[in-house]
Amino acid sequence: MSAAPVPQDPAARSGRTRPAAPPLDLGALIADPDTRIVVCCGAGGVGKTTTSAALALAAAEAGRSVVVLTIDPARRLAQSLGLTELDNEPRRVEVPGAEGELHAMMLDMKRTFDDIVVAHSTPERSQQILDNPFYQTLSSSFSGTQEYMAMEKLGQLRASEQWDLIIVDTPPSRSALDFLDAPNRMSRFLDGTMIRLLMAPSRTGFKFASAGFLLFSRIVSKILGGQLLRDISAFVAALDTMFGGFRERATATYELLRRPGTWFVVVASPEPDALREASYFVDRLSADDMPLAGLVVNRTHPPATAALSATRAAAAAEAVLEAGGPDADLAAAALRVHAERMTLAAREQHLADRFTSAHPEVAVRTVPAAAGDVHDLDGLRTMAAELTGDDADTPTGTPRTRILPARRG
Ligand SMILES: Nc1ncnc2c1ncn2[C@@H]1O[C@H](COP(=O)(O)OP(=O)(O)O)[C@@H](O)[C@H]1O
Ligand SMILES: [Mg+2]
Repeated sequence: MSAAPVPQDPAARSGRTRPAAPPLDLGALIADPDTRIVVCCGAGGVGKTTTSAALALAAAEAGRSVVVLTIDPARRLAQSLGLTELDNEPRRVEVPGAEGELHAMMLDMKRTFDDIVVAHSTPERSQQILDNPFYQTLSSSFSGTQEYMAMEKLGQLRASEQWDLIIVDTPPSRSALDFLDAPNRMSRFLDGTMIRLLMAPSRTGFKFASAGFLLFSRIVSKILGGQLLRDISAFVAALDTMFGGFRERATATYELLRRPGTWFVVVASPEPDALREASYFVDRLSADDMPLAGLVVNRTHPPATAALSATRAAAAAEAVLEAGGPDADLAAAALRVHAERMTLAAREQHLADRFTSAHPEVAVRTVPAAAGDVHDLDGLRTMAAELTGDDADTPTGTPRTRILPARRG
């Protein structure tokens, strides 16, 4: 990573103190029997899937019977959780010594959609729908389908009452908000105006086949292609009986996220885009009355010690080189590495502080970057310890709400 200059901190310059983020106690949250659902959200690539799996492992070790619904686990992580096939059902993961039980599953969005269709129509009808080319496209690639099906699956897992805790990973969408918007978009799409218009001629004959509609329909079929239009009409005709059901389902699933016992954990990396996304998401949760547990700032780079500043370490490196001696090169290199790390940590802390200035009430937990990827139970265990460990219990004494100790004075 390049060492960009640390932006000036206006609060520090003016002598005002920045608000300190409250600590995020995820250990207590996942151990609490009243916690039934934890949803991990955030921008793409920040560590949602890994955080979900690590929290699930920690909960199983704390004695709970937990299922983690993963969406897109990296291949090696999936393997170490025993998720070698996409069977859309939870599988038990052997966790030696755990008091509770860990189950894991990987979402198969097409299969989840198929199951809904089958459950809500006659065998004949459902076969018509499943065979329809438009349905096949919609169920495997419509933007928002994955988000919606993740929520559907969550609803099914919750309704089965088989687990005392469900941890949900969210899809790798561009925006974390897509997850919350999915049910509405899906139901708007399925019983929306466009489809009703397309349906009109086959349902009510000439009544709606006004000149305006014919023109509209001709334009649409030019854009979409005549065959696709016929597929959509056939799909909608077959789906007709499910229409009302869809809106109700979407509403019910959304409401599940507001029930007591559900908590959102927002994950971000210490980077401007990810934290901006986290900021939007936090605002949206509060607008929708959904409970936020707090923010995880994942993959931070705290220094081994904060006692030696970047400036002093860099100066010391120069001095050591000038003085010469057998190990001067090595010592100077170590000092320079430390200087870079301090600069990086300062930039990350600055970004985290900016988030906290905008959302002083949001609890924060920082999780240092591990040396390599997190792809097995040991790696998850290490991450779980970082996620759930006591706020003050760190080797350097820096609380886990922070990357660098708070400035004194
Ligand atoms: N704290 C961490 N330290 C090191 N690597 C991490 C950490 N958190 C996540 N990773 C790695 O980052 C990559 C992306 O993580 P992932 O959980 O798949 O992100 P997301 O689900 O948000 O897209 C994975 O390869 C994962 O192993
Ligand atoms: Mg993921």
